[in-house]
Amino acid sequence: MEKFLIEGRTELSGKLPVNGAKNHALKLIPAAFLFTGEVTLSNVPEIEDIKRLVEIVDNIGGSVKHEGGSISIVAPEAFDGELPADLVPQLRASIVLVGPLLARYGSVSLPLPGGDNIGQRPIDFFVEGCKAMGANVKIKDDTYIFKAKHGLQGAEFLFPLVSVTGTETLLLAATQASGTTVLKNAACEPEIVALAEFLNAHGAKITGAGTHTITIEGTGLFAGGQAETIPDRIEAGSFVILAAATQSNLTITKCNPAHLEIPLYILQEMGVETQVGADSIEVIPPKGKLKPINLVTHEYPGFPTDLQAPMTVLLTQAEGQSHVRETIYESRLVYTDLLNSMGADISLLDPFRASITGPTELQGKTVASPDIRAGIAMIIAGLIAEGTTTIQNIYQIDRGYERIEERLQAVGAQIRRVSE
Ligand code: EPU
Repeated sequence: MEKFLIEGRTELSGKLPVNGAKNHALKLIPAAFLFTGEVTLSNVPEIEDIKRLVEIVDNIGGSVKHEGGSISIVAPEAFDGELPADLVPQLRASIVLVGPLLARYGSVSLPLPGGDNIGQRPIDFFVEGCKAMGANVKIKDDTYIFKAKHGLQGAEFLFPLVSVTGTETLLLAATQASGTTVLKNAACEPEIVALAEFLNAHGAKITGAGTHTITIEGTGLFAGGQAETIPDRIEAGSFVILAAATQSNLTITKCNPAHLEIPLYILQEMGVETQVGADSIEVIPPKGKLKPINLVTHEYPGFPTDLQAPMTVLLTQAEGQSHVRETIYESRLVYTDLLNSMGADISLLDPFRASITGPTELQGKTVASPDIRAGIAMIIAGLIAEGTTTIQNIYQIDRGYERIEERLQAVGAQIRRVSE
């Protein structure tokens, strides 16, 4: 088992480049099953979730070349419908495979997918969406069996709640359906726009991606293709917050600031100034006291739930009382106990609401990373705390952030990975 050891209170400086987006690359890989020829993906982050998904592709007969940030995939001509029960539960994104596999091969058995400890992750939208497109779905021994022996038909489907992976799964399936599919109350995240642009560049007919209504005309399999993973807006936002929290002059590079308009606006309200370039964000170290805020998470373009934990760490340094309301996941504030053990003053009003009184001086402690995003929040907390912070269960951090310790060391952070 590995852990991170962090010595806090060091000012950071320099350039911190952002990697390709986890939640884009994790959907480009399933999309490769819609192609008869080779699909080559670049700027793919080298993270554990990608490695697990590649293992699944390999396990089901895909031919994969994986070298650094480049992955080439050729989908198999046949697939027996069985997804590996040991790998699928390790990441939520494995569910996105259902769309292309069902559409292309006519059947897929899905052991209940897993992911993070951030709340219930139901899959009813996926089941109902596939049924609307003509699939038959049965549950046997915690496995969902999807069948569409005679192919899928275009349909209109309304998502009761906005779901990113739900939108992506049905969008991928709909490219192979006969007729037209309309997804209503679809998610608008930039990763969905990029996925649709990739498919359109190779012959798909998708309109409306980036709005709440996406229309897909079924076109059939695509020949071969390539795609570049877009910059990870969550990693970029986490680095901006890290710079503000450590009062450092950091320039976050290789990012797309247009994907972070609301987080940057909210940071400005708190007193954090940034200089935004075409693909960079320079954080000016805050001089005065940070102002408290009321933060509400929201689907894109709102404040992302995936930045809620890092932002809460920053709010422990604001002068006065802040409130955080998490609207997507019911267990995504549990890490606040860990911050309190380090000296923060956070009250959980209910599972969705926290009140933070600041500023508080954090002290280094031993904490475990509960999930990917709370994990990076613990690193930020460790970097502003007095003394040594030990972070355990760092597999959760490695799931989403590539060699984070080496990249932070390059801007002066005192963080090391050690084996227990
Ligand atoms: N939901 C249902 N039924 C469903 C699907 C979803 O009720 O069938 C509800 C959920 O309970 C939740 C909401 O819809 O209230 C959205 O949840 P969902 O599980 O659909 O989220 P997701 O689309 O799978 C993606 C990202 C998350 C990110 C959210 C932001 C991926 C692989 N995951 O999740 O990323 O927080 O969108 O909305 O793209 C992360 O990267 O750490 C992460 C958790």
